[in-house]
Amino acid sequence: MDRFLTADDLAKTLRRDVREGLTGTPKTLPPKWFYDERGSALFEEITRLEEYYPTRREREILRVRAPEIAAITGARTLLELGAGSGEKTRLLLAALNGTLRAYVPVDVSGDFLEGAAAGIAADHPGLEVRTVVADYEQHLHLLPGGERRLVAFLGGTLGNMPPAARVGFLGGLRATMAEGDHLLMGADLVKDTGRLVRAYDDAAGVTAEFNRNVLHVINRELDADFDVTAFEHVAAWNEAEEWIEMRLRSTRDQKVRIGGLDLTVFFAEGEETRTEISSKFRRERMEAELGAAGLELAEFWTDEAGDFSLTLARPAV
Ligand code: SAH
Ligand code: AVI
Repeated sequence: MDRFLTADDLAKTLRRDVREGLTGTPKTLPPKWFYDERGSALFEEITRLEEYYPTRREREILRVRAPEIAAITGARTLLELGAGSGEKTRLLLAALNGTLRAYVPVDVSGDFLEGAAAGIAADHPGLEVRTVVADYEQHLHLLPGGERRLVAFLGGTLGNMPPAARVGFLGGLRATMAEGDHLLMGADLVKDTGRLVRAYDDAAGVTAEFNRNVLHVINRELDADFDVTAFEHVAAWNEAEEWIEMRLRSTRDQKVRIGGLDLTVFFAEGEETRTEISSKFRRERMEAELGAAGLELAEFWTDEAGDFSLTLARPAV
């Protein structure tokens, strides 16, 4: 396992993010902190919910298109950013069977990644599986190189970055790519608002638990005393930005002590802390953002219902 993020770096970044996010107006917390072991397991549960269509739809596209992806890319190395369980990636691994030498899953959530990668390695004897604990917003330049790399960024996770950060991220990724490399990226599409909101506010309350998990993480890691039950899950569609926002709404006036930061934060009744945005795309926007980063769209596939997209891109010439 390569670790570009030590436990120390993680602790430092968490401290900075929480201090900046909870002392700013409005309050925010970055979504990267949902994913400790429990948060990663909750996300996996989300992917199996009836209301949460993105995983199913992306799997459908991968199932149909994996042979084309293999034929076009002839990938020798598959580098996967924000790999999580790598469950859908198995479809790519099977299709790339003839050319692929190495699978490199990259994630901030180290323990979860290890478990998932061990399962994949056991099922693919002969494939080099090299896990990397890194933050793809900081460490792209440190990731393993090699010929004919396919960089996969699945699930629609690009949409969790604000548009300004996406430009920098895609540009940074382009800078690591050479001729013959490809980028395969999943992105959720703009659709009926009701379905979008339900996907982020499921009846069983799993997404609410996932959202509140960030407070458990801060309690544990920064010696804080959040009463997690005093925060309600909110999922709302932002029409102007075309993104879903998840927030945590304080159900009463309350003070929270964050011992590890020597900080006390006041939350007013009804005050909302934004914990995630999840941008929804249109083809034109995807093409424009890739173009601005020096990438050109080679293929743009959707599932049959047109709910989700998978884009194959390459360095523009
Ligand atoms: N690709 C999987 C998982 C998506 S969930 C799927 O499609 O189902 C998002 C994943 O990205 C989580 O595993 C989370 O730990 C990881 N992640 C979030 N922010 C990250 C960052 N800044 N750097 C690296 N990994 C990150
Ligand atoms: C990882 N990411 C693409 C998910 C999404 O849909 O934005 C995270 C998530 N948040 C709530 N549900 C799922």
